[in-house]
Amino acid sequence: MAIDLAAQESIVGRAQKDIDKYGAEGTGYIGKVVMSSGENPVLGRKIRMDLAEPHVVLICGKRGYGKSYSMAVLIEEFARLPVALQNRISVIVIDTVGIFWSLKIPNRLRTDLLQQWDLEPQATNARVLVPAGKMDFYKTKGIPVDGSFTLKASELSGIEWMALFKLTWSDPEGVLVTRVVERLREQVGTYYGIDEIIKAAQDDTEADSIAKQALINRLRIAKDWGLIEKTGTRVSEIAKAGVITIIDVSAYRQAIGMEGTRDIIVALLGKKLFEERMLFRKEEEVKLIKGERRESEMPIVWLFIDEAHMFMPKDEENIALTVLLEWVRVGRQPGLSLVLATQRPEKLHPDSISQCDLFISHRLTSQSDIKAVEAMRPSYMYKGFDKYYDEMPKGKGFALILDDNSEKLWFVRIRPRFSWDAGVTATAFTE
Ligand SMILES: Nc1ncnc2c1ncn2[C@@H]1O[C@H](COP(=O)(O)OP(=O)(O)O)[C@@H](O)[C@H]1O
Ligand SMILES: [Mg+2]
Repeated sequence: MAIDLAAQESIVGRAQKDIDKYGAEGTGYIGKVVMSSGENPVLGRKIRMDLAEPHVVLICGKRGYGKSYSMAVLIEEFARLPVALQNRISVIVIDTVGIFWSLKIPNRLRTDLLQQWDLEPQATNARVLVPAGKMDFYKTKGIPVDGSFTLKASELSGIEWMALFKLTWSDPEGVLVTRVVERLREQVGTYYGIDEIIKAAQDDTEADSIAKQALINRLRIAKDWGLIEKTGTRVSEIAKAGVITIIDVSAYRQAIGMEGTRDIIVALLGKKLFEERMLFRKEEEVKLIKGERRESEMPIVWLFIDEAHMFMPKDEENIALTVLLEWVRVGRQPGLSLVLATQRPEKLHPDSISQCDLFISHRLTSQSDIKAVEAMRPSYMYKGFDKYYDEMPKGKGFALILDDNSEKLWFVRIRPRFSWDAGVTATAFTE
């Protein structure tokens, strides 16, 4: 009797003992197995991915082969988990390009593609938060915004101000901002904004007037970013249980001298989430010991970072790097998952390659990038990466999945999105 392989499902990201226990509960449908060679391969069983346990997922691939798309597919699946599970999870997406807002719009443009997969266009419930002072930017672009966020000035240390302005200890303004911020903390506490820092810089007696002016100019520009205020958005407001939150920082994309802003946003958010989850993790443990249900107010977090090499570079400094490496190394214990995407694994900090437990790779052709991922070649891989990439169809959305949890390797086609793909269709959309 022939076995109908297409009727079966397989789960990645979950060890066999957990599959025996939980089955497919808490997983998301991400694609189908590739069963034959060629450009239009036969597709087999459905592949689901575990979304209930913490993971470090790395998505690689050449530009334009489906990294952001695959991320969107994953995000869509979180919105389709059973409510009880959803309510334990908060999904936060750092969007540097301004493409994830379209998750909210059903994919009516590609109903043909969805039909081939027996799927239908659907909207995904997500909210888009943007820096408070940049609302106009998003309005003019027609991006549907649900709210804004700010960072609390007093939460930035001297080092973080330096990182924000790309200053070092050899810059007099760097030394000055550190001194001024420390003094403010002693004198005022935690309630001060950029105006107070400007005033304190003016009053500083040690710095020369050139350094003062240079710093004050930078601070004035920083005011225009509309990001750093006396009061900041609480992390509990951002990491909401059962909610998919898109932090759109694309307003800072092109402007020169603003690169530091998105680094600071990721660094502070990552740090806060880590601290809070560590606290709540303890609370959950105590409850468990007392025989109560393991629940706390703070949900577990899945943080999605597209273009991750920007925040976790290999040979450069970045204020977000230390924080994210902490997530990569020990985040699973407090329930912090990361989904990183990059087209340049070669430029990515090697720890995020070696520590990932799910590796999803679209086509890679650059030898240096292939070499970078070779570093993690697991024992269950019996051919070199270049061989797999050679065999991969040239079309978009095909991926190799290495799963450390089940120690298996899969060759899949990622399913089409339910939601609109702003990556390519943004212009058609505004017509
Ligand atoms: N799984 C897929 N199914 C169908 N089309 C896809 C798939 N993945 C990617 N594509 C197509 O490829 C384009 C580029 O994908 P994208 O995710 O934006 O690439 P990048 O790797 O640069 O992030 C998408 O806009 C879409 O048209
Ligand atoms: Mg992309």
